[in-house]
Amino acid sequence: MKTKIINNPDTAAGEVLKGNIVALPTETVYGLAADALNPEAVLKIYETKKRPDFNPLIVHVGDISDFEKYAVNIPAEVYAIAEKFSPGPVTYVLPKKDVIPDIVTAGIDTVALRIPSHPLFREVLRKCGCPIAAPSANMFGRISPTTAEDVLKELSGKIDFILDGGRCPIGIESTVVSFEEGNIFILRHGYVTKEDIEKITGRETGEITDAAGKISSPGMLKSHYAPVTPLYFTDNIEYFKNKAGNIGVVDLSLYRSLKEAALNLFADLRKADEKKYEYIVTKRVDNKDLGRAVNDRLAKASSGTVMIENGSVSFLNKK
Ligand code: TXA
Ligand code: MG
Repeated sequence: MKTKIINNPDTAAGEVLKGNIVALPTETVYGLAADALNPEAVLKIYETKKRPDFNPLIVHVGDISDFEKYAVNIPAEVYAIAEKFSPGPVTYVLPKKDVIPDIVTAGIDTVALRIPSHPLFREVLRKCGCPIAAPSANMFGRISPTTAEDVLKELSGKIDFILDGGRCPIGIESTVVSFEEGNIFILRHGYVTKEDIEKITGRETGEITDAAGKISSPGMLKSHYAPVTPLYFTDNIEYFKNKAGNIGVVDLSLYRSLKEAALNLFADLRKADEKKYEYIVTKRVDNKDLGRAVNDRLAKASSGTVMIENGSVSFLNKK
């Protein structure tokens, strides 16, 4: 199969309606899309990405009024957050209705709903008239794609079409939020920050960690978003900038804002990965606002920490 980059949303919508999968641009990252109500089509997503079957997908819809078709017990906070941030990069985890096939939610009783703002994705949604399931369009565990060319590098020969929407304007995934017994949990940090959600709802948010044994959002797996080349944190990035040798440096602190750092995060990791360095070093950005989402991706992409002692380097690998 030869994968084609296309510009016509009609072709993409036609593929979805035929039960095929197609890569689509969103404002965050590219997604690998299928009709969410067609279990055979959704199965192709898991198979193509080699995604484990316990990892549920996000269902994309056109409008907040669609939420009632697919979810129940929608709390007022959802509408408050959506008023400000949807369409856009927030995903709401809600108790699902039976119309959503089990394969979409990996058998759990909640569904993740998001209203994307990207005009091409929205056009495909309108033309299809069905909800669209779409994870990021990378092979499982790898770096999320933010251009059509990135998708091609990930999925060449595995899908027929990639709808080209240019570079994703946000570059980092949506924030995944769940609502349980009056509490709000951030399951995955994303473009909309914890501070944003707390400001709107007037409530403190919690985080569900794997250790708590609660729903784990597999975006919370320890290793994810990873380059093939090992990535290590360092406290001394200047040392590596000046060190001779085949070592890559991804320094996000050079960007003028956290937004810019987030926008360039996956692109910079991918660029460094393609250079086939022995290893890549990086450092965390400020751990506040959007910095949390950036640091979360870096932590999951990393293999551990590199230390310098008496001029020689040693590696502390992540367990
Ligand atoms: O920005 C985005 O969210 C992109 C674009 C394409 O929309 N999509 C995306 O999908 O990042 P994916 O599959 O790469 O990540 C979805 C995250 C995973 O961490 C998954 O575990 C979580 O959402 N998730 C999906 N359904 C869930 C559910 N019912 N309960 C808890 N977490 C869920
Ligand atoms: Mg992903």
